[in-house]
Order: sequence, then C-alpha cells, then structure tokens
Amino acid sequence: ARITLRQLLDDAAEHGYAVPAFNINNMEQGLAIMGAAAACDAPVILQVSRGARAYAGDIMLEKIVEALELMHPDLPMVVHQDHGNNVATCLSAIRHGFTSVMMDGSLQEDARTPASYAYNVGITAQVAELAHMVGASVEGELGCLGSLETGAGEAEDGHGFEGTLTRDKLLTDPEEAERFVRATGVDALAVAIGTSHGAYKFTRQPTGDILAMDVIARIHARLPDTHIVMHGSSTVPQEWQDVFNAHGGAMRPTWGVPVDELVRGIKMGVRKINIDTDLRLAGAAEFRRIAATAPAEFDPRKFTAAAMTAMTAICRDRFEAFGTAGRA
Ligand code: G3H
Ligand code: 13P
Ligand code: NA
Ligand code: ZN
Repeated sequence: ARITLRQLLDDAAEHGYAVPAFNINNMEQGLAIMGAAAACDAPVILQVSRGARAYAGDIMLEKIVEALELMHPDLPMVVHQDHGNNVATCLSAIRHGFTSVMMDGSLQEDARTPASYAYNVGITAQVAELAHMVGASVEGELGCLGSLETGAGEAEDGHGFEGTLTRDKLLTDPEEAERFVRATGVDALAVAIGTSHGAYKFTRQPTGDILAMDVIARIHARLPDTHIVMHGSSTVPQEWQDVFNAHGGAMRPTWGVPVDELVRGIKMGVRKINIDTDLRLAGAAEFRRIAATAPAEFDPRKFTAAAMTAMTAICRDRFEAFGTAGRA
C-alpha cells in the first residue's frame, strides 16, 4: 500500500532503523527490489530520477509501480522523486502517484551549478508548501555532495564541477541545516558528509577522516524530527567489480561506502539511504558474465534473470543490515 515518506520514516525513527531507497528505471529493477522486500518483510522506497522518467516515460513508470503494488499489497511503499530540479518536476511526479518528492535546490535548475542558500530555501519552501497541501512528503538537500579526498564537488550526474572546495564548503553546516529546515518545512534532509554519487567515491578504503559521520550526529541533535538522508550510499562491492572486470569490463580500482559506516550512520540518525550504483553494477556485471561465458546466448531473459537475482541479493543484504527487515 502506498504511504508517504513522512509516515515511513517516522516509524523508522521510532524503532531505530533506516530504509534503503533504491532507484527504479524498469520492470526488472522493480521485481528485484520488491522480491527482496517480500522475502524479508520490509517496507520499500522506490525512487525515480528525472533520467528514469525520461527513459521509461511517466505513464510506463506509473503503471510498473502500480503493478508492483498489486503484486505486494501488504508491503508499505513510498514512491519518491529523486533529485527534483524545479517545481514542475516535483508537481508532475505527484500527479503520477508519487507520495514524496526531493527538491534538490542545492544545485541550480541545470542540476550542475551550486546554488545560493537563498535560492535553495526559496524553491524548497515553495515545493514543501504545495506538496504538503496534497499530502506528499518533501526531502531537501543542503550542502554539496562531493569528495573530502579530492575536494571535488559534484553535480547531480556524478560529474565534478569546476575547481575544488574546502572541507567546510563540502559539508552540511549543522547550524545552517537547522535554519533551512525551519524556513522550508521539509520532512527529510539530505546531508553532505563526504559521499558522492556513482562508482568512483574513494581511491582507498574510507576511514574516519574521509567520511564526516560526526556531522550527522550534530544535525540530528538540532533536528530530531527531521529525517536525515544519505545520498551516494552504494558500497560498490569488490566482488561485483571483480565479476565485471573478469568478463571484459574495465572499471578502475575504487571503493564505496562500507556497510558498517552506513550502520553507524543509522545509529546517529540516518533514516533513508540512497542506493543506485550497486544494483547497476551487479546487473551489468551479470550481463557481462553471461555474454562472455555463453557467447551463443541471445535470449534477453537469460541476461535479465541473472541480473535480477544479483540485484535481489543486494537488496536483501541492505534490508537486513539497516534493520528494515521485518518492519513491513
Ligand atoms: O542521483 C543519481 C541517481 O543515481 C540517478 O541517476 O540520473 O542517471 O538516473 P540517473
Ligand atoms: P549511489 O550512486 O552511491 O548509488 O547513490 C545514489 C543516490 O544518491 C541517488 O540519489
Ligand atoms: Na547538493
Ligand atoms: Zn542522490
């Protein structure tokens, strides 16, 4: 059944767990996520990027999500706009049945250029007012996703923007976060603590100085009723990098966010954890493996079925690790 992000994350806060928000672009990702959720009795957040809407089309995505809901009527389900870039994107998502929207005003409408605090507050408050009128939840973002290793800030597509930023420019400032939430009324806040989108997050196993976990605790202390969101939370599993590279792939060595760090974040107040890259990587690694090991194969289901099995396993692991399992 469809619920809002506020409803789901209030329950997560009350019981001390977090919910992975998996990106969905097609039927196969949807079946994999919901199969895992059903297997471990977990509520789900299906999040849809602007790129996903352009790829599959709003009507197709709406009906895929509806079908998944019909198949699993007992699982609480949030349908969420990932990184909305303007008011129209957020409102059209709600028209298509989304129960939650992210207005990412940390970047300008081009989703590339860092925006001013004034722009971010103004547009996020506007979306929050409108979305709340029709019963949808709102996530905002403050700060700049990007690497504390390199000082490179990040646009929504995972590409860096010009120049490098200092540590305090990259991280969300707790005092500013409090002002931002009071001024906008958002239900959830995406914070920048040193993670970035995509596969290339860290050049070595991240340690305490690369992820600013303390910022989460400081924001949570000021804003106990605002649900903290971690973007860029794929772990980029080494075993899936190996499958990918063993079958003709050419990924550079890279590290993601260790599951232990995500669990530490949950203890400090994180309630929504965004994951896209891990399912992309595992699915693509399986495509490569089938193509390389069964070169005569041309039934697309052999490729997509293997990808779904791999994606389901990752989703189950996260539902278990984050305490989402058993909470449906
Ligand atoms: O935030 C980025 C998500 O991974 C979505 O990526 O815009 O390529 O669909 P996308
Ligand atoms: P990853 O690229 O780490 O999976 O992050 C996804 C994300 O934050 C979507 O908003
Ligand atoms: Na940002
Ligand atoms: Zn994100």
